[in-house]
Amino acid sequence: MTSRKKLVAGNWKMHGSCELVTTMVHAIQQYQAQHTVAADIALFPPAIYLPLMAQQCANTAIAYGAQNISEHEKGAYTGELAISMLAELGCQYVILGHSERRALYGETSAIIAQKVARTLTTAITPIICIGETLAEYEADATLKVLHQQLQAILDLPQGIQTFERAVIAYEPVWAIGTGKTATPEQAQNVHSKLREFLAQYSAAVAEHVKILYGGSVKPDNAAALAAMPDIDGFLVGGAALDPQQFISIISSVK
Ligand code: PGA
Repeated sequence: MTSRKKLVAGNWKMHGSCELVTTMVHAIQQYQAQHTVAADIALFPPAIYLPLMAQQCANTAIAYGAQNISEHEKGAYTGELAISMLAELGCQYVILGHSERRALYGETSAIIAQKVARTLTTAITPIICIGETLAEYEADATLKVLHQQLQAILDLPQGIQTFERAVIAYEPVWAIGTGKTATPEQAQNVHSKLREFLAQYSAAVAEHVKILYGGSVKPDNAAALAAMPDIDGFLVGGAALDPQQFISIISSVK
């Protein structure tokens, strides 16, 4: 049996409002007050809402973070955010390497590894996203692609130890925002293979690291996915914009 605590993370992408921050936090808090919740919960609004999020989440069991940071410490990088700024606002997590960052903003695995290293200079936990495209999936290249994406992180000076303080989110790109989810068996198979891959470097770290699943997680498929032994929670996009749906997903994680 594992002792990995599950995590349900809501990635709002470029959606949301001040109003959604307050209604979402309030709804989750109410749910937590009335139920035993097995999972940790974290919200990732657009960064401009983080000060409000910090205020609303004070003295609650809800964590929050940003969807991206710069790989640089500070400096003349117009439009970018430094990890120290997230730390100042009490962020516990940051999402790094989301497939939209990789595909739309040209982030390579090497840049993402630098962002991970930068994050680990603080107490913030990186949620490192990996995933194969539809073409890669159809070419049976899923594991090869995922291994390459993880290898960039393993190549950091701390090597496998990086994953002692990181979370992995496996998000098949073909499942993101498409309504197509990997079946629980498909996702479980990939998650266990990822753990096997990391176990070549350290069995203890492979056993300890949380691996979230993401890609069209909804109230009606979350319970079956969450029941899989190597799925340690979710990175939720669309369904994280609706308090009822998000809470329903949280409730299905035992
Ligand atoms: P989705 O997004 O749940 O809307 O598919 C998931 C993600 O991109 O993190």
